[in-house]
Amino acid sequence: MTIMKRLKNVSLMAILVFFASVASVKAQDNAEGEQIFKNNCSTCHAVTDEVVVGPGLKGISQRRPIEWIVTWVHNPQAVIASGDKYAVDLYNKYNKAQMTAYPGYSAAQITSVIAYIDAQVTAVVAPVAGAVVAGAAPAAGSSNGGMMQYVMIALLGVMVLVLVALLSIVSSLTKLSTITPDSIEGQKIPLLQRIAENGKKLTANSAFKTGAALLITLLIGKATLDSAYGIGIHQGYAPEQPIQFSHKLHAGQYEINCTYCHTGVYKGKGANIPSANICMNCHNAIKRESPEIQKIYRSLEKDEPIQWVRVHNLPDLAYFNHAQHTNVGGLECTNCHGEIAKMEVVQQRSSLTMGWCIDCHRKTEVNAKGNAYYDKLVELHNSETKEPLKVQNIGGLECSKCHY
Ligand code: HEC
Ligand code: HEC
Ligand code: HEC
Ligand code: HEC
Ligand code: HEC
Ligand code: HEC
Repeated sequence: MTIMKRLKNVSLMAILVFFASVASVKAQDNAEGEQIFKNNCSTCHAVTDEVVVGPGLKGISQRRPIEWIVTWVHNPQAVIASGDKYAVDLYNKYNKAQMTAYPGYSAAQITSVIAYIDAQVTAVVAPVAGAVVAGAAPAAGSSNGGMMQYVMIALLGVMVLVLVALLSIVSSLTKLSTITPDSIEGQKIPLLQRIAENGKKLTANSAFKTGAALLITLLIGKATLDSAYGIGIHQGYAPEQPIQFSHKLHAGQYEINCTYCHTGVYKGKGANIPSANICMNCHNAIKRESPEIQKIYRSLEKDEPIQWVRVHNLPDLAYFNHAQHTNVGGLECTNCHGEIAKMEVVQQRSSLTMGWCIDCHRKTEVNAKGNAYYDKLVELHNSETKEPLKVQNIGGLECSKCHY
C-alpha cells in the first residue's frame, strides 16, 4: 500500500510537471516569438508581403532553410561578406540597408520568431485578423501576447482541476477495492462529497504542493521575462511633476497657445520646456497664495530651475526635429502627443519607436502646397507614378535622416 501511495505521488508529480512544461512551451512558441519580433524585427519587417525597411517576412520559412535564417539573424554582414549569392542580391535590392545583427538569440528563439510569422500568415486568411496584422506592427504593443497568456493560464487551471478530479476518483476506487469496516463506512458517503474530501487531502499532499510551487514559479518567471522585453518602450508614461501644472487648465480651459510656453516648437529641433520666468508673466499676479505657485517663487529666489521630469525621450542615436514636422510638415501636436489640452498630467501617448516613425512616413503625404521647395519634386514624382508623394518618397526611410 505504501508503495502504491508513493507511486501515485511520483506519477502525480510527473503529470503536473509535464502539463506545466507543455503549457509553457506552447505559450512560449507563440508569445516569445511574438515578443522578440515586436521588440526587434517589426521596426524593419512586416509579417505580410509589405516592405518596411527590409522585406516582408511572409513565407520566409519556405523561402529559406531555417539554418540559413539563424546564421543570417546572428550576423547578416558576415553572410553577405561570405559571398552567399542570395544574401548579396537581397542586400543590393534593399539599397545596401544594413540589418542589425542579433548574436544573442538562440536558434530556438529565432525558430519561435519564424513560427510566429507563419502563424500570422494563416491568421491573415481571416479578415479581422488580417486587418490587425496589416495595420498593426509596433505601436500596437503586446495586447495580443497578453491575451494568449491568459488563455494558456486558464487552460492550465482547467487541466489541474481535471487532474484533481481524476486522482480523487482513482483514490476512491482504491478505497473501494480494499474492504475493511472503515471503507464500507466510506461507501455510504456520496461520490461528490468523497471527491471533495479527497481534494482537501490532495492539497495537503506534499507532492501536490511541490508541483504547484513549481508551476507558479514557472509562470512568474515567464511574466518577469516578458516585462523585461518591454523595457525601453514608455507608452503611457505619466510621471508625477514637482509642481502640479495642468495642461487641461492652461491649454484647455484658458486656451493659452502651446507656443506661448513651448517656444521652439515651430522654429527648431526641441520644443523647449518653459522657464519659471514665463510662468511669472501671469503668476506674479494670479494665485500668489497657492502653495503650488509658491514653489515657482522659491525656484526663482534660489535661482534653481524647476526640476520637471522628462516624459518623452528618444535615445541619443535618433534625431528628431519638431520644426520639420510642425512647421514644414504641417502636423498638429495631437498627431503625435494626443490630446494634451485635456490632460491634467502629461502622458506619453505614442510608442516613439522607430516603427512608429517609419509607419507614419510610409502613410503620410507630403504637405507640398505653397512650398516652392517641393514643386520640382512633386512634378518629377507625378510624371513617374499616380501615387501621391509620401514622406518615404522624399527620403523619410533613409537611415541617415534619423540616425547621426
Ligand atoms: C534595422 C532594420 C532591420 C531590423 C531591426 C531587422 N531586419 Fe531583417 N532585414 C533588414 C534588411 C534591410 C534586410 C534585407 C537585406 C539587407 O539589406 O541586408 C533584411 C533581411 C532579413 C531576412 C531575409 C529576408 C528574405 O526575404 O529572404 C530575414 C529572415 C530577416 N531579415 C529576419 C529578421 C529578424 C528575425 C529580425 C529580428 C530579430 C530582423 N530581421 C530585424 C533589416 C532589418
Ligand atoms: C503655460 C505653459 C504651457 C502651455 C500653454 C503648454 N504647455 Fe506643455 N508643458 C508645460 C510645462 C511646464 C511642461 C513640463 C511639465 C509637465 O510635463 O507637465 C510641459 C510639458 C509638455 C509636454 C511633455 C514634455 C516632456 O517632458 O516630454 C508636452 C508633449 C507638451 N507640454 C505639449 C503641449 C501642447 C501640445 C500644448 C498646447 C496644446 C502645451 N503643451 C501647452 C507648459 C505649457
Ligand atoms: C498666460 C497666463 C498663465 C501662465 C503663463 C501660466 N499660468 Fe498657471 N494659471 C493661470 C491661470 C489663469 C490659472 C487659474 C487661476 C485660478 O484658478 O484662479 C493658473 C493656475 C495655475 C496653477 C493652479 C494653482 C492652484 O493652486 O489652483 C498652477 C500650479 C499653475 N498655474 C502653474 C503654472 C506654471 C508652473 C506655469 C509656468 C510653466 C504657469 N502656471 C504659467 C495662468 C497662467
Ligand atoms: C511628428 C510627431 C510630433 C509632433 C507633430 C509634435 N511632437 Fe513634440 N515630440 C515628439 C517627439 C518624438 C518628442 C521627443 C523628442 C526627443 O526626445 O528628442 C517630442 C517632445 C516634445 C516635448 C518635450 C521637449 C522636447 O523638445 O523634447 C514637448 C514640450 C513637445 N514635444 C511639444 C510639442 C508641441 C507643443 C507640438 C505641437 C506644436 C508637438 N510637440 C508636435 C514628436 C512630435
Ligand atoms: C524615420 C526615422 C528613422 C529611420 C528612417 C530609421 N530609424 Fe532607426 N530608429 C529610429 C528611432 C526613433 C529609434 C529609437 C527608438 C527605438 O529604439 O525604436 C531607432 C532605433 C534604431 C536602432 C536601435 C534599436 C534598438 O532596439 O535599440 C537601430 C539599430 C536602428 N534604428 C537602425 C536603423 C537602420 C539600419 C535604418 C535604415 C535601414 C534606420 N534605423 C532607419 C528612427 C529611424
Ligand atoms: C504623424 C506622422 C509622423 C511621425 C509619427 C513622424 N514623422 Fe517624421 N515626418 C513626417 C512628415 C509629414 C514629414 C515631411 C515633412 C516635410 O514636408 O519635410 C516628416 C519628415 C521627417 C524627416 C525629414 C525627412 C526628409 O527626407 O526630409 C525626418 C528626419 C523625420 N521626419 C524624422 C522622424 C522621426 C525620428 C520620427 C519618430 C521619432 C518621426 N519622424 C515621426 C511625419 C511624421
